[in-house]
Amino acid sequence: MVESLLDRTPLNNGYTIPGIGLGTSGMTGKEAEEAVFYAITNGYRLIDTASFYDNETDVGKGINRAINAGISRDDIFLTTKIWKTDMGFDQAVQSFDKSLEQLNQQYVDLLLIHWPDKEDTVNLDTWRALESIVESGRARSIGVSNFKRADLVPLLEEVKIRPAVNQFEMYPGKSGQDTNDFCDSENIVSMAYSPIKKGNISKENRTMTLAKKHNKTPEQIALRWAIQRGTIPIPKSSRKERIKENAAIFDFSLDNEDMNFLNDLDMNKGDKKRLRDNIPGTVEIKNRRKFNK
Ligand SMILES: NC(=O)c1ccc[n+]([C@@H]2O[C@H](COP(=O)([O-])OP(=O)(O)OC[C@H]3O[C@@H](n4cnc5c(N)ncnc54)[C@H](OP(=O)(O)O)[C@@H]3O)[C@@H](O)[C@H]2O)c1
Repeated sequence: MVESLLDRTPLNNGYTIPGIGLGTSGMTGKEAEEAVFYAITNGYRLIDTASFYDNETDVGKGINRAINAGISRDDIFLTTKIWKTDMGFDQAVQSFDKSLEQLNQQYVDLLLIHWPDKEDTVNLDTWRALESIVESGRARSIGVSNFKRADLVPLLEEVKIRPAVNQFEMYPGKSGQDTNDFCDSENIVSMAYSPIKKGNISKENRTMTLAKKHNKTPEQIALRWAIQRGTIPIPKSSRKERIKENAAIFDFSLDNEDMNFLNDLDMNKGDKKRLRDNIPGTVEIKNRRKFNK
């Protein structure tokens, strides 16, 4: 498990990835540039963007300003993605050419297919484009996003370069446990998007209870839960105080009881009642074993 903002987790291709990053969807222009610059100069090393976010130019400006301020490009981990309408070999390559130009970078660290197509052949054609981009040296690692087990299995049978990362939605209450377990078994790192439930995690009483216990905010509890599960959260904020707050999660830890308390949010009402009545065999009890392993 990562122990600091600068700590890194190994990927399956020899590269490493920081343990937490800044999400950038919903911010553009000066706001995006400033947030990225502020985050990097305050210790963040992973920045997540996508062609769909319409902010690659601004994200690139923030990164280049941080490089000019003395941060090495090698220490920054930049992710972008191929959007749904750019699936297929030629379109994906064209989309990436445009992304790289807008980002004003020589390479990205990670390039993802943003969403799976319902046709496996389209996913594979697009994957071939990503593989050719790695071979050209313009992306170091490639991966997928929003892929479930059923999307990954046929892809993994055909790939020449294995996906290093799968990025999908995870927060306390939506653990994505099946996809996460599958990715673990295939040595694919799971990256958690919307890790603070799009800013709504504090509405969940359980994160509030733990926040009081640890003298932290509910957002910090959710982000700590993410890293202790071995996933990489990428919370978005364009506010300086929140960018700092979201990274201040390395000075406390959740114990097994806390983790189970949060894992239990995935249970439905029937499971909760069976657990209360101490009837074994519930989904939650099975999940607990996985979480505790
Ligand atoms: N691959 C995909 O399909 C996909 C989909 C969705 C998102 N993503 C990526 O994941 C990133 C994060 O997900 P997200 O943006 O959906 O949701 P999120 O990070 O869970 O939540 C972001 C929201 O929470 C607020 N916020 C941030 N820190 C806070 C704090 N400490 N206390 C209270 N509120 C806080 C932000 O507002 P302020 O900015 O005003 O602070 C923003 O409204 C995205 O930016 C994007 O890079 C990927």
